[in-house]
Amino acid sequence: MKLSIEDLRFFKGNGYLIKRRVLDKVLMAQARERFWDYTPERFSKDKPSSWIGPIRPEEEEEKTATAPNESRGFRLHYRTIGSESWMVRLLAKDPAVWSMAEQMLGAGQLTDPKGIRGIYSTLPYGSHPLPSTTCHTDAHPFHLGIVGYIDDVAPGGGGFTVWPGSHKRFYYAFKSQYRNEPTEEHSVIREYYNGKQPVDCYGEAGDIVFWHHRLAHTGPPNTTRRIRRAVLYEFTKQDIEQAQLKPPQKNMWHDWSSQFS
Ligand SMILES: [Fe+2]
Repeated sequence: MKLSIEDLRFFKGNGYLIKRRVLDKVLMAQARERFWDYTPERFSKDKPSSWIGPIRPEEEEEKTATAPNESRGFRLHYRTIGSESWMVRLLAKDPAVWSMAEQMLGAGQLTDPKGIRGIYSTLPYGSHPLPSTTCHTDAHPFHLGIVGYIDDVAPGGGGFTVWPGSHKRFYYAFKSQYRNEPTEEHSVIREYYNGKQPVDCYGEAGDIVFWHHRLAHTGPPNTTRRIRRAVLYEFTKQDIEQAQLKPPQKNMWHDWSSQFS
């Protein structure tokens, strides 16, 4: 699977790109099954009414330096599973995913993944009041994000949600190309995009969303009855340590592949 000229043009202009039915079916099924290892006892795999959030106080799990999993509110982040090699193969090292990421960032230039972020899930809100949807940019340095759905995500189902084109403004709202050093403009631009309609990147199991590291995004509330289950990873180039020392460049695609020039 290769990205077309139209795909690259879409990503450059919008800061994200959806590709359909990419991920391996067997590995997705394995991930869906293993997910239940991390859910509270009251969750029954075959009983959707048991999946409604929020997580009860006694079920909460806080992230620590040695235990990275996290359960709170409507989110269950099963991170420890992300270091298993088959999970890396499911997302970052899926041959099609890897070749598309190399097409964007340059062949032979990506950091070899030690793990992926894990399975990130959003529980159904049921009749719970919905919070407003606001955008953010991520704090840690990376080049290209990817969200992969291991289960179907209907519209309003907590799918990765983006503000198209915002990467072109937020890129210049930091003092570094990659570090989280926002300028005073950052909050002004954020407020601007909070007044704009975002795009809900819903999809089916196997669909992926690529996204630019400075794109405004959020994981919105899940208004469906199914748990939003996604696997996440961020691609970095091997030179990110040096690259993050530099300020944003006039050509924001200068260190992407020549297909972006
Ligand atoms: Fe984020």
